Amino acid sequence: MISTYQQLCPVLFGAGAIGQLPDRVKELGGTKAFCIFDAGVKACGIADRILGILKESGLAVETFDGVLPDAPVDSVNAAGQKAKDAGADVVIGIGGGSSLDTAKAVAVLTDNPLPINLYYMQKNQHQIVKTSLILIPTAAGTGSEVTIMSVLHDEETQGKETVLKAGTLAIVDPELTLTVPPQITAATGLDAMSHAIESYTTNCGNPKADILSLAAVELIASNLEAACEDGCNIEARTNLSLASNLAGMAFNDASVHFGHAAAHEMGLQFHISHGVACALTLPEVVTYASDLIPDKVKKIAAALGLEVTDEMTGEEAGRLGAEKIRSLMRSVGIRSMQEQGITKEQAMACAKGAIEKNWFVSCALKPIDIPVMEKLIGRMYDNYI
Ligand SMILES: NC(=O)c1ccc[n+]([C@@H]2O[C@H](COP(=O)([O-])OP(=O)(O)OC[C@H]3O[C@@H](n4cnc5c(N)ncnc54)[C@H](O)[C@@H]3O)[C@@H](O)[C@H]2O)c1
Ligand SMILES: [Fe+2]
Repeated sequence: MISTYQQLCPVLFGAGAIGQLPDRVKELGGTKAFCIFDAGVKACGIADRILGILKESGLAVETFDGVLPDAPVDSVNAAGQKAKDAGADVVIGIGGGSSLDTAKAVAVLTDNPLPINLYYMQKNQHQIVKTSLILIPTAAGTGSEVTIMSVLHDEETQGKETVLKAGTLAIVDPELTLTVPPQITAATGLDAMSHAIESYTTNCGNPKADILSLAAVELIASNLEAACEDGCNIEARTNLSLASNLAGMAFNDASVHFGHAAAHEMGLQFHISHGVACALTLPEVVTYASDLIPDKVKKIAAALGLEVTDEMTGEEAGRLGAEKIRSLMRSVGIRSMQEQGITKEQAMACAKGAIEKNWFVSCALKPIDIPVMEKLIGRMYDNYI
């Protein structure tokens, strides 16, 4: 089989890497940096630290500190106008997926007319690209620093919309994740796990994505609880940052599928965080694949730390793998839909939006229509009470 590997942007990885930011900005020809982050990243001191090192090196710096969860388009347009007015020549996103995705969209707007909905993927609108874009994740989850997608929340279409924009450089410094609280560590870590497992179980994968996905599953399975228990465990944090980055590269090629489609709609309807919504779908993603690609599901089970024998069937490996993920979810405090006050009927009603608003559901191993999605969501509900 012939497949395409993407190599999107260089990654500077490792504890302390953030110290190289000013030199990297200058290498890219940047003189005026526009930094984008949210209230949480400011409150933990990371934004001020990064603004400080940029200013000390003589660079001009402007900021947008109003990023909102899930990157709503209104705040993206506001940030884009501010970046244009500032005459920024390098945009720097600092934070979780919401901040990085806002920064990607702002980099598009810096060079092109507003508003951002002109550049939704399906519109195929040509973009001028001059402004450099540096993406600095401060949580280990989305892998957005190495994907081409900016995922935005559009109130008008009531869906998640995508703008395509890759970074010029990613700086992944695990020390920046030491302040992430346990609940967010759990949710973002399971988002990364779902990128890894979904990209390993699509119909559009490639051998490189497969290797990255399995490595990410193993790293998350063996480090997530440790990072939730002790946020200052730099070894666990480093492994989770690496896993999130590898899983981002994997799903940028191989795509996610029905788990993320269901999670997007559940996030929109119930206002639960992206990572929690993805976690709730994940055991059924493994189960669904178990009789379709049994050998791969056995490899997932092994990467999750289970003992897998030659005689074991795909179904058995899928059942044990799903159970292992549920026990990890319990241990890091992911609340079930029922515990969050969601009824099974409400959950199943997400099937329509999940199928109709998320093109990538077509990357599932078999075609999934609304009745099948309803059944899958019903199982997600019943099997994790
Ligand atoms: N572009 C992509 O490829 C891609 C992939 C997956 C998800 N996403 C999108 O990303 C968004 C979710 O991103 P997210 O889960 O990272 O959430 P987020 O960006 O909203 O961040 C979650 C919370 O973590 C806090 N935080 C981040 N770093 C911190 C730190 N070091 N210390 C303390 N607090 C910190 C933030 O302030 C925020 O309150 C969703 O919109 C989702 O659709 C995008
Ligand atoms: Fe995700």
